[in-house]
Amino acid sequence: MNAEELKSFLKNRLPPEINRLILHAAELAASQNLHLYLVGGLVRDFLLNKTPKDADLVLAANAIKFGQGLLEGFNYKATLHPRFNNLSADINGFKLDISTARNEFYPDPGKLPEVLEGDIKADLFRRDFKINAMALSLSPQDFGCLVDPYNGLTDLKQHKLSVLHPKSFRDDPSRIWRALRYSERLGFDISSETLTLLQRDAQLIPLIGADRLRYEMECIFKEAKPENILLKAEETGVLKNSLPFIKADNWPADKFAEARNMYGENVSPEIYLCLLSVRLDKPQAEALITGLHLSKYISACLRDYQCLAEHLAELGRVDLSPSRLYGILVKCKKEARQAFNIANDNPIVRKHLMLFQEELSGIKPCLKGTDLLTLGFAPGPDIKTVLAELLNLKLDGKIPSRTDEIDYVKRRQADDQV
Ligand code: CTP
Repeated sequence: MNAEELKSFLKNRLPPEINRLILHAAELAASQNLHLYLVGGLVRDFLLNKTPKDADLVLAANAIKFGQGLLEGFNYKATLHPRFNNLSADINGFKLDISTARNEFYPDPGKLPEVLEGDIKADLFRRDFKINAMALSLSPQDFGCLVDPYNGLTDLKQHKLSVLHPKSFRDDPSRIWRALRYSERLGFDISSETLTLLQRDAQLIPLIGADRLRYEMECIFKEAKPENILLKAEETGVLKNSLPFIKADNWPADKFAEARNMYGENVSPEIYLCLLSVRLDKPQAEALITGLHLSKYISACLRDYQCLAEHLAELGRVDLSPSRLYGILVKCKKEARQAFNIANDNPIVRKHLMLFQEELSGIKPCLKGTDLLTLGFAPGPDIKTVLAELLNLKLDGKIPSRTDEIDYVKRRQADDQV
C-alpha cells in the first residue's frame, strides 16, 4: 500500500467533496499532531477495489471537537454522539463518521457497550470481523500504511469472514446478520469456527430489540440479492430466532428475483416485506409488524396485503366489474398491489391489477361537487354519494361523456322528487 494508491482510490471512488474533506482532515490532524486513520468498511473496500458506501475516521483524541473544527464553515448536518464521543456528518447523502478510538466493554449481550478511551489497536479489536478491523493511516509520515493487527488482510485474500474473538456475537448479536450479509455481498465463506459461534449465539438475536433488527433487515433489502441472505439465515437457524413466523425457501427467493425483473433492481423494502408476509395469517402479520417495529407506512402495506389476499377469489373472477375492482384496490398501497401481482401467477388477477394501475386509477367523473351545486343539489353528504355513484358508473362505462353524467344526475334528481 502506498500513499499514491490510497489518494487515487479516494479520488476515483468517493464523491469529490468527501475526498476533499478526508484530505483536509488529514492536514488538520497533522497540524494538531494527531494520528488519524480510515477504518472499517472503507479500508476493506479499498483493498477489494470496491466503491465504499460510507467513510469512518478514527483518532485518539476528542472526535467531536476535531469533527466540529473540520466541518466549520461547511453547511453539512452533523449529529453528535457524546456517549461514544463521535460525530456523524451527512455530506450530501454520504455518511462520514469521525470517532474517538475506544475500547468497549459489553456488560450484557445485545446491550450497548460501556466505552473507554483507547488506541487504534484497541479500537480495531472491538470490531465485528477481521476484514473490518483494519485501518489506513492518514498521518504524513506513513500516509496509506495499513494497520492490520488481527490479520484481516489474510482473511480478505482467502475470501474468508471470521470474528476476532469467540465473544463477538454475544457482545453484539446483530453481527450475526452482518456476517450473513457480508458473506453474500462479498462472496466470502464464513469460517467454520465463526459459523459454529454464529449458530451457538443465534438464540441471542431477540436481545437486540425490534429497532436494531429492523435496521439489519433494511440493510439486507439494499443488497443485490437479499433472498440469498435469507436462505442462509434459514439454513443456520438465524431466521427462526429473529422472525419466527417467516419461512425463507425457494418460494420467496424466486419471488424476490421476479420483483427485481418486474420493478427494477432497487425493489423497495415494502415489496420485499409483503412478499415475506404472503404465507402469514393476520395475527402473524401483526406479529411481524411488532417484531420489527415497522413504520406506519410499511405496516399499512402489510395490512393492505392481507386485505388483498382476502379478496383473491373475487379478483380472479372474469366477470368482476371495473367498479368493484376499483373499490377493492383503491385503498391499498401501491407496494401491496405490486407484491400481490408478483405473488399471484393467476393471469386474471394480474390482468385486473394492471387494468387498475393503467386505466381505472386515473378515471374521474367530469362533474365536480360545484357542478352538482349548480345543478341544484343542496350542500351536504348527498354530494359525496352522487359523486361516488358517478365514478362507479363511469368506471363501468355506463356514462362515458359529460352529457351522460348530467343526464344521470338530472334523472336522479327527478327520481328523488317522486
Ligand atoms: N461495526 C462493528 N459491529 C457492528 C457494526 C459495525 O464492529 N455491529 C464496525 C465495523 O468495523 C464496521 C464499522 O463499524 O466496518 C462501520 O460499520 P458500518 O458502516 O455498518 O459497516 P461498513 O463496514 O462500513 O460496511 P457497509 O459497506 O455495509 O457500510
